[in-house]
Amino acid sequence: MSHPRPRPGHADDLMELRAAAFELLARGVADRRSPVHTPTLASIGLDGTPRARTLVLRGFDAAARTLRLHSDQRGEKFAELARDPRFALHAYDPAAQVQLRLQGVASLHTDDAVAEAAWQASQPFSRICYSIEPAPGTPIAAPMPAPQDEVVGRQHFGVILLRMHSLEWLWLAAEGHRRARLDWPDGEERATWLVP
Ligand SMILES: Cc1cc2nc3c(=O)[nH]c(=O)nc-3n(C[C@H](O)[C@H](O)[C@H](O)COP(=O)(O)O)c2cc1C
Repeated sequence: MSHPRPRPGHADDLMELRAAAFELLARGVADRRSPVHTPTLASIGLDGTPRARTLVLRGFDAAARTLRLHSDQRGEKFAELARDPRFALHAYDPAAQVQLRLQGVASLHTDDAVAEAAWQASQPFSRICYSIEPAPGTPIAAPMPAPQDEVVGRQHFGVILLRMHSLEWLWLAAEGHRRARLDWPDGEERATWLVP
């Protein structure tokens, strides 16, 4: 006989929902098997068209409402976010049946303490990617060997820090879906249910 799962607190309580959403983001950093570990980052292309790609979620600071991603400074997303820092981030956790949609503004860090701390904390096998030549996205005649030299990668390494201005939550449940939005105008938190 199957037992129904206990009703989670986030079904009816916006503050429990907030805690659950932040917990999914924190687990996305800590647990490589979490689908939130590899969210989709959307930015506005240099030609104004939408762009989306997978990145690894490296850090989440709940108090600052920031998420940390690592990328090659020479990549298109870096140029896109430098021109227009507005982003959207999407993740869906099938086990939790929750979709997260974040929006906000990105800052780019290449030569400051944020970038240096992230580089120092990176594994050698992660660092090596940043020494690739020529730049990521350059057309080549044939697939090329993987780069070997981690030291020269530092000059290409960058941190994308996403500061969220809003978080939208959608929970799929047989008893009735739940949709809610948190946002932080003027630093104050607002939370509201939305029609799913
Ligand atoms: C599972 C997975 C994880 C990835 N993680 C990163 C990452 O952490 N940083 C990154 O720059 N690209 C990552 N990529 C590659 C990006 O999706 C993308 O192809 C690349 O960064 C070029 O994007 P751009 O041309 O928009 O700059 C990852 C791809 C996959 C499939």
